[in-house]
Amino acid sequence: MDKIVYNRFEKPLNKTQLIEAINQLKKEKNAVIMAHYYQMGDIQDIADNVGDSLALAQWAAKTEADIIVLCGVHFMGETAKILSPSKKVLIPDLNAGCSLADSCPADAFEAFTKAHPDHTVISYVNTTAAVKALTDVVVTSTNAKKIVDSFPKDAKLIFGPDRNLGNYINSVTGRTMLLWDGACHVHEQFSVEKLVKLKSENPDAFILAHPECKQTVLIMADFIGSTQALLNYATASDKQSFIVATESGILHEMQKQNPNKAFIPVPPNDSTCACNECNFMRLNTLQKLYDCLKNETPEILIDAELREKAVKPILRMLELS
Ligand code: 13P
Ligand code: SF4
Repeated sequence: MDKIVYNRFEKPLNKTQLIEAINQLKKEKNAVIMAHYYQMGDIQDIADNVGDSLALAQWAAKTEADIIVLCGVHFMGETAKILSPSKKVLIPDLNAGCSLADSCPADAFEAFTKAHPDHTVISYVNTTAAVKALTDVVVTSTNAKKIVDSFPKDAKLIFGPDRNLGNYINSVTGRTMLLWDGACHVHEQFSVEKLVKLKSENPDAFILAHPECKQTVLIMADFIGSTQALLNYATASDKQSFIVATESGILHEMQKQNPNKAFIPVPPNDSTCACNECNFMRLNTLQKLYDCLKNETPEILIDAELREKAVKPILRMLELS
């Protein structure tokens, strides 16, 4: 194993110094920092762009920066690299995976699609590049309904990997898409009992939920949408308090845009924690962001042949969005 050699002249930087150094490196290297709403507040605050999965893909496709630092999880870095192959794409922690993407191994998904050769394959963006390469069109939670609606009513469709999002899209489009049986460990974990208790304690609060949540949570929601849609809804609404069933990182921007409104996170099952965080998303820190910009590693690299197959369904999504 390689030894980690620390430069004994380099003192650890405090938060203010880290922020200054990251901004300096960003300028010197013509880099752009993109962050998902589930990142910790410090990272959202220093990012040039903060958005949902669709926005991250759209920004990555058109950026003029030489380096993209994607503060999110691995599949988001892959999507950015697939869309901008000539750019250097970095992520602060290579271990930032996704339980939903992991719930859909490419070989098993390929066998599933081959068993239904007359079906069009729709995949959520939370998948590996290898799964995207087996896909006809990619969707995110922002555009899934619109893209599914663009197919004829009698089209035979496979939807993977999120069974909760798939069930929800089936219910709002009147489809019977075949679903892959995958899920996100964060969104599956919301406690219905704690949600009921929160609602009884805050009867005027509106319940906002991400469609990756289980049906038992979704049936209680007043509004269901992607992280961006939930944020837009809360900002436009004249309601003053919201109970939020998605990863609690989104509360940072909700509170920032709506300082006078109250946002209450829904806790997970089997935990004393008040909010539900994605342990993968939270691997990224300001220190790792600084290290990654400084050392230009870890870098996302994708085999050219795989990239050629995976880019087609993503571009189709961007055209249909
Ligand atoms: P959106 O960013 O599309 O709302 O999806 C949430 C998510 O699970 C990202 O990992
Ligand atoms: Fe994946 Fe769920 Fe984490 Fe999003 S919140 S990155 S879907 S594990």
